[in-house]
Amino acid sequence: MSRTKSCATSLQSAAELLRTGHIVAFPTETVYGLGADATNPTAVARIFEAKQRPTFDPLIVHVAELSQVERVVSKFPETARRLACQFWPGPLTLVLPKRDIIPDLVTAGLPGVGIRIPRHPVAIELLKAAGCPVAAPSANKFGGISPTTAQHVADGLGSSIDWIVDGGPCAVGLESTVLSLMAARPVLLRHGGCPLEDIESLIGPVEIARSDPSLDDAAQPSPGMLSRHYAPRTRLIVIAHGRSAEAIAGLRCGLLTAGKQPFSGQFARIEILCDDGNLQTCAANFFAALRTLDASDLDVIIAHEFPAHGLGVALNDRLLRAAH
Ligand code: TXA
Ligand code: MG
Repeated sequence: MSRTKSCATSLQSAAELLRTGHIVAFPTETVYGLGADATNPTAVARIFEAKQRPTFDPLIVHVAELSQVERVVSKFPETARRLACQFWPGPLTLVLPKRDIIPDLVTAGLPGVGIRIPRHPVAIELLKAAGCPVAAPSANKFGGISPTTAQHVADGLGSSIDWIVDGGPCAVGLESTVLSLMAARPVLLRHGGCPLEDIESLIGPVEIARSDPSLDDAAQPSPGMLSRHYAPRTRLIVIAHGRSAEAIAGLRCGLLTAGKQPFSGQFARIEILCDDGNLQTCAANFFAALRTLDASDLDVIIAHEFPAHGLGVALNDRLLRAAH
């Protein structure tokens, strides 16, 4: 049974459910997560089942404070310390060597575990009350559009999860940036809510992992980053930033765009992510707008690329995977 309650009344119950092996959706500043006690393999297995997620795709572990990190990881190098100081709590996941307390199911058998401290006050309170590290992927069916409200979670997973904590819409709106510190040189595994420029200005150049077409999905450097992901059911076409998006005659077309981007023709539905092109606002509205368009009975969604800096890089990454 799924229950959605306002956060004030549900936090203690939700924490108790986590402690006793249940799966609970909760808000973070990036997207809603579907959480389970990261040290309980049976509970973690239920996440994979509810999401219909392949077990080669590792989960991110969430903790409330720095003192809990050493329960989860066996090494916390100087680079991690500097990044944590600057960006935690916040949308940055660090992959570090895992301790045995974290079951292999969480990391898909990899030696590293992704860990972050989220910035949402409800997430922090829940994690504190639960007292255990919480493994949580985005709370959507595998490959689908990430949820940024409790209603999105209920729409996608409602009947297969135990509880949904409602903390309002997510402020960042894009998943965390994932950075591996497993080798001497940091490697970026996923663009996300913490822009690469900000990371590089603190720790210097970062290598960007490229997927290798000769390997199968499970053997990629970031196994969950499939070429098709974050995807609406409706076909999506991406138009270069600054080019005019033209509605296609005879088709019901939807438009997804930031403010001040040129377009023409008859669109059945238009979602303008922000009036002034502010990338933070675009990110916060992105997944909800994609869902609205996907539910509008369209033949095609035409989406403008974002400028390739700051959060625009992660937004373009999501767009291209959604269009694949
Ligand atoms: O913002 C977020 O990161 C959200 C919230 C809930 O924290 N979570 C999230 O989880 O987006 P998920 O499962 O949808 O995406 C996590 C991705 C995996 O698909 C994988 O690409 C990468 O992070 N990842 C996680 N753990 C990893 C590990 N140990 N090694 C390599 N990549 C990892
Ligand atoms: Mg996801």
